[in-house]
Amino acid sequence: MKILHQQISRSIEDTLKFARYLVRILKPNDIVLLEGDLGSGKTLLVKQICNLLKTKDEAASPSFAIIHQYNGPTPVNHFDFYRLHDEAELDQLGWEEMLNMGAITFIEWSQLIEKHLSEYYKVEIKFQGGDRIFVLKKYP
Ligand SMILES: Nc1ncnc2c1ncn2[C@@H]1O[C@H](COP(=O)(O)OP(=O)(O)O)[C@@H](O)[C@H]1O
Ligand SMILES: [Mg+2]
Repeated sequence: MKILHQQISRSIEDTLKFARYLVRILKPNDIVLLEGDLGSGKTLLVKQICNLLKTKDEAASPSFAIIHQYNGPTPVNHFDFYRLHDEAELDQLGWEEMLNMGAITFIEWSQLIEKHLSEYYKVEIKFQGGDRIFVLKKYP
């Protein structure tokens, strides 16, 4: 594991700076795990990246869906595994084929899937006082 980048966020605008940094280094088929407590700003980061990549709105998908896919010049997959309970549920999703189709994939609540992945990035968001600390790591 290598730490690539660290940044403090005190605002939504600061998070956008981090999003811009990520967009510069990420390539199609890259995978980014997002780790941080509820409310730390994981989903906000994915939305900002979708805006920067000019993806189109998702075709009718319920707001509670586990998998969101956004088309665009560089497509984005957003897996939100908050409501995923076990390996059996994970196996039913067919997530593996979604990783090699040219999209960048972001995964919230990734603990069930991490051991199945070999090469990926991880963004850790931690609260420190009122600030958020963003750390970008690369695995292995
Ligand atoms: N850096 C930030 N500064 C201020 N508010 C933020 C920041 N990041 C996220 N928020 C706000 O916090 C709330 C939760 O963010 P969200 O992205 O849904 O968190 P998560 O997906 O980690 O649970 C949202 O209302 C979001 O706008
Ligand atoms: Mg979220």
